[in-house]
Amino acid sequence: MRKKIVAGNWKMNLNLQDGIALAKDLNTALTADKPNCDVVICTPFIHLASVANEIDSNIIGLGAENCADKSSGAYTGEVSAEMVKSTGAQYVILGHSERRAYYNETPEILKEKINLALANGLKVIFCIGEVLEERESGKQSEVVKSQLEGSLFDLSVEEFKNIILAYEPVWAIGTGKTASAEQAEEMHAFIRSAIAEKFGNEAAENVSILYGGSCKPSNAKEIFAKANVDGGLIGGAALKVADFKGIIDAWK
Ligand code: 13P
Repeated sequence: MRKKIVAGNWKMNLNLQDGIALAKDLNTALTADKPNCDVVICTPFIHLASVANEIDSNIIGLGAENCADKSSGAYTGEVSAEMVKSTGAQYVILGHSERRAYYNETPEILKEKINLALANGLKVIFCIGEVLEERESGKQSEVVKSQLEGSLFDLSVEEFKNIILAYEPVWAIGTGKTASAEQAEEMHAFIRSAIAEKFGNEAAENVSILYGGSCKPSNAKEIFAKANVDGGLIGGAALKVADFKGIIDAWK
């Protein structure tokens, strides 16, 4: 059975002290009331090692929000997959729409990042999703399929086992406008069928596909109830323990 996962993406929020405090509080809350799903927090690079010390890795997984497309060397300011792994993190988010849009990350660059992340033993939370104009012109499936093809379809079935997918329609990110549960389910089912076609039925059945985009405690239950939705990738609501836990509890 595929895993149910609620992952937080802190983005560029919280200084180190505030990040540590949030991780500590979340750990306390989830130790007292165990989650019914895997929980992951993805933090800025500089928080990783400190946050790793604050959380029980049996309850909360840890991830980065990005990694470099080069393994090491003279790339000032970059952080490699190996460095991420050495902090104690087990995951990395790649292909987030904000990275694609603001930092010009192409499918080819993402392919390099994915290869390096997997080679260093990280699980990849790979984000895909269409912008508003693409949905309005009915091109969302085509766009998402080409994002999958462009970065993942050279992987082996074995490598693909370490991929988690996150469908994040760009028009729903940080806008307060959530995809309806039906829209999410329709796209998740399409993604699963595209994975089945490429990697086989077993890979498709086993891959967790998360929904992301204005997910909140008030809408998580309805979205997670859909057959092909295996959890969420949470932005804003991951910055407050009560909200994040409210979403985690949607699995109860
Ligand atoms: P919001 O939950 O703030 O809409 O962000 C979603 C997201 O981009 C998670 O990666």
